[in-house]
Amino acid sequence: MSAHPAARSQAALDYLANRRSLPAKTFALPVPDRDQLTEILTLAARVPDHGKLEPWRMVVVQRAGMARLADLARARAEALGGDAEKLAKGRGQYDLGLLAVVVISSPKAAAKVPVTEQILSAGALCMNVVHAATAAGWGACWLTGWPAHDAEFCALAFGCTEAETVAGIIHIATPTVDLPARPRPDLSALVRWE
Ligand SMILES: Cc1cc2nc3c(=O)[nH]c(=O)nc-3n(C[C@H](O)[C@H](O)[C@H](O)COP(=O)(O)O)c2cc1C
Repeated sequence: MSAHPAARSQAALDYLANRRSLPAKTFALPVPDRDQLTEILTLAARVPDHGKLEPWRMVVVQRAGMARLADLARARAEALGGDAEKLAKGRGQYDLGLLAVVVISSPKAAAKVPVTEQILSAGALCMNVVHAATAAGWGACWLTGWPAHDAEFCALAFGCTEAETVAGIIHIATPTVDLPARPRPDLSALVRWE
């Protein structure tokens, strides 16, 4: 393995300047195969992680697995007395989903590292999955939705324990649209220099 890449990489900077999410509902086949996704996840797992705890895990949901999640979301919407809109919002991404990587925050309670930092590492992993997938030429979109915050759904869908939460559901597939760029933050309003 090479030393730390200290040299300025224009390719990496150009990538960061242009990367954007595209709506998952516009994605189409093909999706990455197992080898391609393994490369993406291997690169993504090179993530900051205080204490080297690996306080996260991932579940790959393939097309065939989406139907089960859509059914579970429907069952939870009904159990919660949700209306048609809640049902549609809850199951929509699973009805349309082709491939998704579910990043689960799995903090280690016994560790000295604060749980907040462990959850942040799971968020960083989500962003790294987005980066690795996009850099590999795929469309990527980080979604959640109300079922991802419903403990019962997460337990049944992804085997989440009480301590675990869904940090993100990253859909990865072939982009079909190129939407206009969205406005980006005004740094002068957000950064204070001391
Ligand atoms: C934790 C988290 C959850 C998100 N959940 C959703 C979601 O459920 N639905 C949605 O349309 N966008 C969601 N987004 C927003 C998109 O992932 C994305 O940030 C937005 O489309 C613009 O992304 P870009 O800055 O990568 O272009 C979420 C973002 C984050 C960080």
